[in-house]
Amino acid sequence: MKSTKRIWQWLALVCALSFAALLYMGREIWLSAPPIPDRVESASGATLFTGEEIRRGQEVWLAAGGQQIGTVWGHGSYVAPDWSADWLHREAVDLRERLSRQLANNGFDSLDADRRAVVARRLVGEMRHNGYNAETRTLVVSDLRADAIGAVAGHYMTLYGTDPALQSLREDYAMTAGSVPDAADRRALAAFYFWSAWATSTDRPGETGHSYTNNWPHEPMVENTPTTANGMWSIASVIVLLAGVAAMVWFHSARAEHDEAARAPDRDPLFSLTPTPSMRATLKYFSIVIALLLVQIGMGAITAHYAVEGGGFFGIPLAEVLPFVVSRTIHTQFGVLWIATAWLATGLYIAPLLAGFEPKWQKLGVDALFWALIVIVAGSTLCGWLGSLQHKGTDFAFWIGNQGLAYTSMGRVWQILLFIGLMFWLFLMARALIPAIRAAREGRGLIAMVFLSAACIGLFYASSLAWGQRTHYSMIEYWRWWLVHLWVEGFFEVFATAVIALIFSRLGLIRMASANRAIVLETIVFLAGGILGTLHHLYFTGASTGVIAVGAVFSAFEVVPLALVGLEGWQTYKRVDAAPWVAAWRWPILFFVAVGVWNTVGAGLLGFAINPPISLYYVQGLNMTPAHGHAALFGVYGMLGIGLMLFCLRGLTERAAWSDSLLKATFWLLNIGLAMMVFLSILPSGIYQAWASVTQGLWYARSPEIVHAPVMHALVWARVPGDIVFAVGALCLAVFAAKLVIAPRTGKTALSTSGKRA
Ligand code: HEM
Ligand SMILES: [Fe+2]
Repeated sequence: MKSTKRIWQWLALVCALSFAALLYMGREIWLSAPPIPDRVESASGATLFTGEEIRRGQEVWLAAGGQQIGTVWGHGSYVAPDWSADWLHREAVDLRERLSRQLANNGFDSLDADRRAVVARRLVGEMRHNGYNAETRTLVVSDLRADAIGAVAGHYMTLYGTDPALQSLREDYAMTAGSVPDAADRRALAAFYFWSAWATSTDRPGETGHSYTNNWPHEPMVENTPTTANGMWSIASVIVLLAGVAAMVWFHSARAEHDEAARAPDRDPLFSLTPTPSMRATLKYFSIVIALLLVQIGMGAITAHYAVEGGGFFGIPLAEVLPFVVSRTIHTQFGVLWIATAWLATGLYIAPLLAGFEPKWQKLGVDALFWALIVIVAGSTLCGWLGSLQHKGTDFAFWIGNQGLAYTSMGRVWQILLFIGLMFWLFLMARALIPAIRAAREGRGLIAMVFLSAACIGLFYASSLAWGQRTHYSMIEYWRWWLVHLWVEGFFEVFATAVIALIFSRLGLIRMASANRAIVLETIVFLAGGILGTLHHLYFTGASTGVIAVGAVFSAFEVVPLALVGLEGWQTYKRVDAAPWVAAWRWPILFFVAVGVWNTVGAGLLGFAINPPISLYYVQGLNMTPAHGHAALFGVYGMLGIGLMLFCLRGLTERAAWSDSLLKATFWLLNIGLAMMVFLSILPSGIYQAWASVTQGLWYARSPEIVHAPVMHALVWARVPGDIVFAVGALCLAVFAAKLVIAPRTGKTALSTSGKRA
């Protein structure tokens, strides 16, 4: 007992120290982020852009789709270019030509090697020189560079307008014509792109060869190559990972000798479970889960198809009503929403089950939350869609439309409502779980951990309210990753482990006493790496070297437990044979096994593949990231969501209506489909792009020449078989669930004790 208390204290200490450090690093990012000048001037005094235009430009960019169309500093979506890398390359090529004509009176391509070297050197000098004066808050560039900037600005102003000359390029980028209708806004957008590119290549004050974004993106023309610290900390991160894995294997084998397996009870402990009215009210949540999943898959197929056909779907001009911005936003947003809905429902389902009583008015609360969620999902989706189609402007986009930030796109009003909804969910859970924790004779630690992780999931949603319309982009990214990263690599992991352990302990398949301690230890390990690991998203977003160092080392620790959870999955699987009755729970358990396997493969391996700074330097913004994103987000949390849903449905519906064969098909089709999608299409296309990025630069890996190369198009088509297998798996799940719901409900489970399929 005493030692259990001690490890809870360790957990509190780890969290307190890690969050203190994360906040401190946030302050560092704020201080070292690239400044926004009040004026950008040419040497002869002409004003190119104002600070007001740069800030306005950021808003315009976000309102026109932002991270849902291309990326800035590598964050966003991958068919259109990285705008900062694209601007940087265009400006460098244009300026080099002007320099060549000025110095040698001839075009660069006609010069001999020696003269080229001189021009190239001058170009580096011009582009890396930091002409920003902090006192006057003015950035001065040479007249020649000012001309180059003007020319590149013209290109973007045309691109975002309606000029048919650039229509084919727009199609390559999966953009629609006229996405920024107002000319002044288009100028502001160009100002923002200029500033975002300037920050990537100009030297930090007092330093040489080190830009605000730690020299990201790779662009040999302006000597943007990895910094020394980048290489050193990458090596450190690999060593740390090996050390961590060694320690973990040692610890694990030492512990395994002492751990005796639980003896499975003779009968299913949940056999005579009678769902309370509020538990039964969670059933409707699951129909929404399946509906959102199906829409997400449909939107994913359309989004992927736009990578070959620009604005059409097999000849139908679909983009007129459903442009890429909208399909991709819905795809990513619904992914988060259906998984969240499955978990919310599971939380509401298990709370009275654990407490052993139904809190007063609980059903009313569960129903009210359901309808509130429907309003939020439908409202935010429709407003985002409408705002994008009708170009309703920056205020609309920020407040009720599409904020243009990946995974956190819904307008601010919807975010606030969702936050209130999450708090209400916590309240509903707390009413049952807090008495349950108080009364628990055993299993208190597990229930407490499920509740604490759920509380953190809800409370940390508040970090998506931290930025305003004009917050510096570096700080928007800082807070956005507080949400996305701390959720998926922190509290979700804890929730997943705790809820699975809780279910197994309820089924009598693991020993409560050892599970209580193990869960706190595992949480310490997850959060020790996970909280500061947030910084691996911020290596190149205007932060200084410290972020690379801390991010690389701590995120490497995250992979350590993941290397082992695959093994835990295997141990989980063995439990299916623990007693004959367990076979009735076979498919929920197998989905939990899948969680373990994809944690190792999708999160651990594919995550670490892009994680060392030297790796992410070349591949940030390439298809390597969605390869990891799909395998980890669906593989781990999607599978968990389905496993939890099946666990709940088991208690809510008739056993006789269960079709094990449909579930078997669902399980295998989803897993095989996901593996095909990731390993036959997305990952190879990421590796192909990585090659281009290392040899020529990031701009090239994201240019139409590579993105629309025959190999890449072939790889998009290679996605189709995997997508189909996957989609059929989801349809089997839908049919399975429909059969359950249509079958008459008794409200009482009728599990087969013989253990064989009924
Ligand atoms: C189940 C756990 C995880 C989930 C669900 C997950 C999910 C995601 C998602 C959705 C993205 C963004 C993809 C995009 O923007 O297209 C991402 C990016 C990334 N993840 Fe993970 N991830 C997990 C674990 C990990 C782990 C363990 C590591 C390595 C230690 C890792 C490293 C990264 C990196 C380096 C990026 C790219 C960062 C950037 O571009 O800023 N992830 N992950
Ligand atoms: Fe992360």
